[in-house]
Amino acid sequence: MSQPSNNKHSSIYITSRPGYELRAELLSSRLKLPLLSFEQTKGMVEGLALVVDGLGLSLQQLGKNAPGPVRCDFAGGAAKHRRLYGGGKGQDIAKAVGLNHKSFKPKILDLTAGLGRDSFVLASLGASLLMLERNPVVFALLEDGLVRAREQVLDKELYDEKDESDLTDILNRISSVGQDAKIYLQQLDEQFEPDVIYPDVIYIDPMFPTREKSGKVKKEMQLFHQLVGADDDGSELLLLALKKVKYRVVVKRPAHAPFLAEKKPGYSLKGKSTRFDIYPIKKLP
Ligand SMILES: C[S@@+](CC[C@H](N)C(=O)[O-])C[C@H]1O[C@@H](n2cnc3c(N)ncnc32)[C@H](O)[C@@H]1O
Repeated sequence: MSQPSNNKHSSIYITSRPGYELRAELLSSRLKLPLLSFEQTKGMVEGLALVVDGLGLSLQQLGKNAPGPVRCDFAGGAAKHRRLYGGGKGQDIAKAVGLNHKSFKPKILDLTAGLGRDSFVLASLGASLLMLERNPVVFALLEDGLVRAREQVLDKELYDEKDESDLTDILNRISSVGQDAKIYLQQLDEQFEPDVIYPDVIYIDPMFPTREKSGKVKKEMQLFHQLVGADDDGSELLLLALKKVKYRVVVKRPAHAPFLAEKKPGYSLKGKSTRFDIYPIKKLP
């Protein structure tokens, strides 16, 4: 497998809180990023630090007035709230992938996983997800989120029984690969029968260059823009995806962004800030 890589930021460091030095060392040699002590990072005026502590991995912008850390949290926080009280199969993302159609439970390939938010919502509603992420730092955060969520469901004291088994089922439907989606798609039918291994649905959500003033952009987006920049191969991904899917490709875009590859979708679902473009290949079963 090729190494995932598209780090745009030249100053990314690994650091740890006391007691987590060994894990930081391992991460530094795996990601080939310099290791600094926590004290050293405090004196820095710019750059990004991947921090190992008792809560797992987080990404922290360095320097004065930097926003707080970003981490991947599937078991608690916003992901838990959305899982328990979110919009269900009536929300646009669910309709876009066909989850509102009869008892369709699609196998979805998410080509642009990021921190796995969209994938987790879709898995919570019954879909099975394979997430691909090519940026090694983002992939490390994503994997850490999955590992910690799996550890937390094992800790029975934290959850009542029903909630625990729901989350276990959801996590069992999610897997992840640190690879560029173009390479994954190109290799998809080399060894197997296409009809057997093609995903039901392919989901694409590439980074879009922002024109908003940085103060208005959420801290997570700010960090992502520093880390991965704009994904300018989104059009290529769409054209490849259309050849390797059973039922449909779904593209998430900012509401007023042009279509990927200038290709008109079959239809779109438009929200206030986000639009889902749906490219149907054949009728859902
Ligand atoms: C906007 S973020 C996705 C956010 C995600 N939908 C979520 O809900 O958390 C886009 C991500 O896709 C990744 N990406 C872009 N092009 C990719 C490709 N060709 N292969 C794998 N990952 C890709 C980027 O590194 C970035 O982390």
